Amino acid sequence: MKARWAIEFVGTGSYAPEQRVPNDHFTSYLDTSDEWIVQRTGIRERRIVAPDQSTLALSEAASHAALAEAGLTPEDIDLIIHATATPEHPLPSTACELQATLGCRWIPAFDIAAACSGYVYALINAAQFIQCGMARTVLLLGSESLTRITDMEDRGTAILFGDGAGAAIVRPSTDPERGILAARWGADGSRAKAVYVPAGGSAEPSSIRTVNERLHYMKMQGRAIYKFAVTMMHSLVAETLDDAGVKLDELALLIPHQSNLRIIESAAQRLGLGMDRVAVNIDRYGNTSAASIGLALDEARKEGRVKPGDLVMLVAFGAGLTWASALIRL
Ligand code: UT7
Repeated sequence: MKARWAIEFVGTGSYAPEQRVPNDHFTSYLDTSDEWIVQRTGIRERRIVAPDQSTLALSEAASHAALAEAGLTPEDIDLIIHATATPEHPLPSTACELQATLGCRWIPAFDIAAACSGYVYALINAAQFIQCGMARTVLLLGSESLTRITDMEDRGTAILFGDGAGAAIVRPSTDPERGILAARWGADGSRAKAVYVPAGGSAEPSSIRTVNERLHYMKMQGRAIYKFAVTMMHSLVAETLDDAGVKLDELALLIPHQSNLRIIESAAQRLGLGMDRVAVNIDRYGNTSAASIGLALDEARKEGRVKPGDLVMLVAFGAGLTWASALIRL
C-alpha cells in the first residue's frame, strides 16, 4: 500500500536525565503511598533534570543520538521542529537555541506547543514540509523538563510527571510504501484549562503574588482528562487504522502517550490488542508529555521490537486539549 506521506526514520535518539526518583521519595513528605501510585498510574520511578540541566540539554543529547544512528552531522539538517510544553525560555523558541547548540546551518527552526500530542504533531508537520519539498532532512523532537513546572506540594500532579527527550530524523523515503499511511489530529480549546499553567503568560504575567499563590505551576483536572483519554484513545486508533484500510492484526506495535498505565490498558482492551503489542515505559519515566512517544519509539527500535517494514501506530492526547495519531510503516 502506498504511504500517504513517504518518509523514513533514518535515526532516532532519546535521553533521560540520570537522577531516578522512586515513588518512596513522595511518601516522605506527601500523603501518598507507593501502592497508590503504582495501582493508579503504573509509575514506579521517574527521571528528574539535574540542577544545571534544562530542556535544551535533554534535546541536545537526544539529537546527537539520532544523528549518530543516521550517520549524519548537524550541517545535514535543514529543519528543526521541537515540541515542548517546557521551553528553555518563554522566548525565543528552544528550536532556535538547539540549532545554535548543535552547530546547524541557519535553517528554519520552530517550537510546537501541543503538550503531550507534540511529538505526533511535530511528525505530521515534518511530513508536510518533506512532501511539499520545503525540507529533506528534518530533526523533530519531543522534549520536556516537566518537573520544573510541577508543583511538588500537590500530590495530584507531583507523582505523575518526569523529564526526558525523544528525537527523530526523518527524510523522504525512496520506497513509496514506507512512511505515514494515515494520520489524524485535532483539538478542543473549550477545555484549555483542564491542564494549564495560570501565570507567566500575557494573561497573568509572573509577579510575587503569582509565585506566592503557586500559579506558575501546572494545574490539572486529572479525572476529567482521564475520562477524555479513556473514551478517545481507542477510537482514534481504530479510526486511523480504518483510514488506511489496515487491520489490527497487522499492527506490530502501538506506541501510546505514556500518561497513565490504566489509560493505556483500557485502550488496548477496548481495541482487543494484547499488551505484548503495546509499548509501555511509564513505569520507568512517568509522564514525560511530548517526550514520551519519542522515548518509547527509540527504545522499541533499539531493542529490535520493531524493524523496517513494520506497522506502528502512535497515539497521543494532552493539554489543549489536543490529540493526534499516525500509522507508520517504518
Ligand atoms: O498527559 C496528559 C495530562 N494528564 C493526564 O493524562 C492525567 C490523566 N489522569 C490521571 O492519570 C488520573 O486521573 C490521576 C492519576 C491523576 C488520578 O487518579 P484517579 O484514579 O483519577 O484519582 P482521582 O483524581 O479520582 O482521585 C481519587 C482520590 C482522591 O481522594 P478522595 O477525594 O477520593 O478522598 C484524591 O484526592 O485519590 C486522591 N489522590 C491521591 N491519593 C494518594 C490524588 N492523588 C493522590 C496521590 N496519593 N498521589
